[in-house]
Amino acid sequence: MLKDHLLFFEGFLKNFESVGSFCSTTRWAARELCAPLLNPSRAAANILEVGAGTGSVTLPIIRSLRAGDSLTICELEPTFMTALKQKIASADQVIPPGIEISYFEGPIQELPEVTRYNYIICSLPFLNFPPDLTAQIFEKFKRIAAPDANLTYYEYFGLRAIGKHFPIKDRQKRFSEIDIFFQNLHHTSLKTRTNVWRNILPIHVYSLDLR
Ligand SMILES: C[S@@+](CC[C@H](N)C(=O)[O-])C[C@H]1O[C@@H](n2cnc3c(N)ncnc32)[C@H](O)[C@@H]1O
Repeated sequence: MLKDHLLFFEGFLKNFESVGSFCSTTRWAARELCAPLLNPSRAAANILEVGAGTGSVTLPIIRSLRAGDSLTICELEPTFMTALKQKIASADQVIPPGIEISYFEGPIQELPEVTRYNYIICSLPFLNFPPDLTAQIFEKFKRIAAPDANLTYYEYFGLRAIGKHFPIKDRQKRFSEIDIFFQNLHHTSLKTRTNVWRNILPIHVYSLDLR
């Protein structure tokens, strides 16, 4: 556990922009991100986790899987991916039978577009990204989404609003563009927004209809 935290913190120091946070999300946050998978009437599904880090959301996802599901885990940072694979291998007993797990190490933008996903669970730090990268990733999500696809992702409380008033012009502009992007996205696709207070910084978890 401590080893995980240190690895994550080291990743944050090395790649602040892409890792986006100095510690992993809590189990309460993970539970909310996985909530759609717990729907007892859902059918077997293709599930994609984006930005898995060292696995704080991955293991709860795996515990929510059922026979016939497939899970693709996408992570950019090789050291995180290695740690995550080891963790999953050593947690073999939590993988229910009849489940397929695959890995994609690299940016989500480059994930081959062969599978249509019913659930996408995303932890990417969009507020650190240039607005056109965020737009590009959401276009990608739409291309790989099944017709009934659901996306969950999170954002720290207030950060988008604060960023727009940052006393550095470039940052202000970037946050304003990102804010407009998410306002438009939420206007067309938002299903629910849930607050999770029990996280190192509290978060909103958004659930979107990707159709
Ligand atoms: C905020 S961390 C989330 C980690 C973990 N899921 C959690 O919730 O604690 C974001 C993760 O996304 C990964 N990441 C950043 N950009 C990415 C990209 N374009 N494609 C795939 N993963 C990416 C980072 O390496 C990092 O592990």
